[in-house]
Amino acid sequence: MYGFKTFICLVSWPILLIACGHADLELQLPAHFPPMVFPAKNEPTPEKVALGKALFFDKNLSLDSSIACTTCHLPELAFTDGHVVSPGIYGRLGKRNTPSLLNAGYLDLVNKDGGVKRLDLQALVPIEDENEMGISILSLSDRLSQNSAYQKLSQEAYGENISPKTISHALASFVRTLLSTDTPYDNYLAGDSSALPPSAKRGLALFESNELNCRACHGGFNFTENAFENNGLHENYKDLGRALITLDSLDHGKFRVPSLRNVTITAPYMHDGSLGTLEQVIDHYEQVGQEPRRGQSKKIKPFALSTQQRDDLLAFLHALTDNIYAAEVP
Ligand code: HEC
Ligand code: HEC
Repeated sequence: MYGFKTFICLVSWPILLIACGHADLELQLPAHFPPMVFPAKNEPTPEKVALGKALFFDKNLSLDSSIACTTCHLPELAFTDGHVVSPGIYGRLGKRNTPSLLNAGYLDLVNKDGGVKRLDLQALVPIEDENEMGISILSLSDRLSQNSAYQKLSQEAYGENISPKTISHALASFVRTLLSTDTPYDNYLAGDSSALPPSAKRGLALFESNELNCRACHGGFNFTENAFENNGLHENYKDLGRALITLDSLDHGKFRVPSLRNVTITAPYMHDGSLGTLEQVIDHYEQVGQEPRRGQSKKIKPFALSTQQRDDLLAFLHALTDNIYAAEVP
């Protein structure tokens, strides 16, 4: 999914001129995707991605060495795990449904409440969360320091020994390479009009219609502009969402609008995994469009779908599945 671009960097020091080979990572993005902006202090390189990838699949990142990032973020389920909420160490249950990590490199604020300001820091949350991996980042860094393979990867990537910084920065670098770019919908946008079957084309028109108004929140190439919205899931939210961070009561029940890419394989849905199927999601919007709940966004409009229209909308949502996962989709 990514290619490498090599350039020479020149570092000048009073009389010393050091030329160093430096490989920059270039993501292969379709024309309708904006460029991904990388933090100046952690531009991804193949070496950083290699360290991040090794860490991502390693159960030693948890207190009892039972849970890796990939235990909850399974590649074959578009980096989700099919659970309502995921079991972490000792079977302890987390509070939220595991999101896909595809295109997470585009996030400004991370996690469903936007509580983490930078992807480079996000890994500290699951590592230290007592319901997830449950180990302090300092103990983890000490543990991984004993491993010469990790020291070598960390030196190659950052010119430094393994540390909390190299661990979290490398994991973020790996996450930035996880892309959803190759769905029938993307191929359709790229000019292959046969990529979408007629039913999915009708579903796309419904999705984009003012009547259903889905695009008002699920806009852009990634079906989200990363705003925080209350989609009327509950009358009273146990998880206050964005309000936990802003402490503003107007933000009660607002969660970051998720991408809809690969929704066919990322059930169950919503921050708490409370809706099991896409049919239930459509029922939900139909119902709360007609009978709005407290605090619900006005962007949700009343609509009623015929059986045919419902099938068309589902066919469209199915067409947001990346081709690499298509073999897995029923
Ligand atoms: C026990 C299950 C579990 C494990 C283990 C886990 N995650 Fe997650 N991950 C989640 C859940 C649940 C969320 C949503 C958290 C929230 O919104 O508060 C999440 C959110 C994320 C996000 C933010 C995505 C978004 O849309 O905002 C990233 C990035 C991420 N995880 C990467 C990782 C990495 C890297 C690791 C390993 C260090 C990891 N996760 C380990 C369950 C897990
Ligand atoms: C007011 C903004 C808004 C509108 C309009 C809207 N959504 Fe959503 N949608 C959201 C939010 C916010 C969530 C996540 C809520 C949560 O995490 O609890 C969501 C979640 C979803 C999910 C589940 C995704 C997942 O991974 O959990 C699907 C599917 C979905 N919406 C489809 C639609 C469709 C189809 C329409 C049009 C009928 C629509 N949405 C209209 C805001 C909106």
